[in-house]
Amino acid sequence: MNYRHIYHAGNFADVLKHAVLALIIEYMKQKDAPFRVIDTHAGVGRYDLLSVQAGKTNEWQGGIGRILGPDAPPLPPDIAALLAPYLAIVREFNAGNTLTAYPGSPELARRLLRPTDALIVNELHPDDHAELLDLFMRAAQVKVLQLDAWVAVKALLPPKERRGLVLIDPPYEETGELARLARGLTQALTRFATGTFVLWYPVKDMPPVEEFHVSLKNLGLARSLRIELYTRAPDMAERLNGCGLLVINPPWTLQDQMQTLLPFLSRRLANGPGGGWLVYRSIPLHAPRPS
Ligand SMILES: C[S@@+](CC[C@H](N)C(=O)[O-])C[C@H]1O[C@@H](n2cnc3c(N)ncnc32)[C@H](O)[C@@H]1O
Repeated sequence: MNYRHIYHAGNFADVLKHAVLALIIEYMKQKDAPFRVIDTHAGVGRYDLLSVQAGKTNEWQGGIGRILGPDAPPLPPDIAALLAPYLAIVREFNAGNTLTAYPGSPELARRLLRPTDALIVNELHPDDHAELLDLFMRAAQVKVLQLDAWVAVKALLPPKERRGLVLIDPPYEETGELARLARGLTQALTRFATGTFVLWYPVKDMPPVEEFHVSLKNLGLARSLRIELYTRAPDMAERLNGCGLLVINPPWTLQDQMQTLLPFLSRRLANGPGGGWLVYRSIPLHAPRPS
């Protein structure tokens, strides 16, 4: 386990993932019934953007730095409205537009949840798990676990509230992790078919991504939304050119929200020629296909 999120915290991929996470949590809060967020690969929860590690890559400057930093142009009103729940939490960590710290998914979720909702954060790395324990020591609604993510998924689903959002955000250190994800997701859905699942995946070049989506289609998953953002042409296997989120059982509002947000993000976070975005609903798998 070599991956440390501090090198990447606040980058373009975090901006997309965390903006979507916040939108889904806000949507779920529209109903009074409590729900549970399960963060299977949690990281440490908060990140020091002035740390030596963050400074080694400065990835955050091409991400949240372009949205909220001192040189960032103002956001158009429709974009500011869509990013409002996410940026409200980022602002809680920073004074004005000078960015010094960034919330990871556990902090983002905790601060958006109501007192009646629950949060489970799971992190396998011993140092990161210890930091999480420390962070949430006094947070009664948060449970911190140190399990392999797929063991956690099996053990924790379905949640007792029967309403839930599961964020699956692996580091993709090992080859074949996309195939692992497809298998794990199928198991998770047999336990909690009505849950909302958000899976993050890297986009370097397109063939493995297309293969991943084809493998999911063959597994017959529930309705889903495929969301991708490319900050430059997705045509080089050895670098991160974009990222994707697969949202299973998405809020019905999310596709329209993405159609507004993604064109903006692909321009604002561009890192070279050939960037872009996509969002589309998966074809219902039980429907007959044309021959
Ligand atoms: C991309 S980071 C998570 C970032 C976090 N979700 C966020 O958005 O702020 C992935 C994390 O997964 C952890 N991890 C790696 N393998 C794991 C496993 N098998 N089970 C649980 N956590 C794992 C890593 O230590 C790392 O902290």
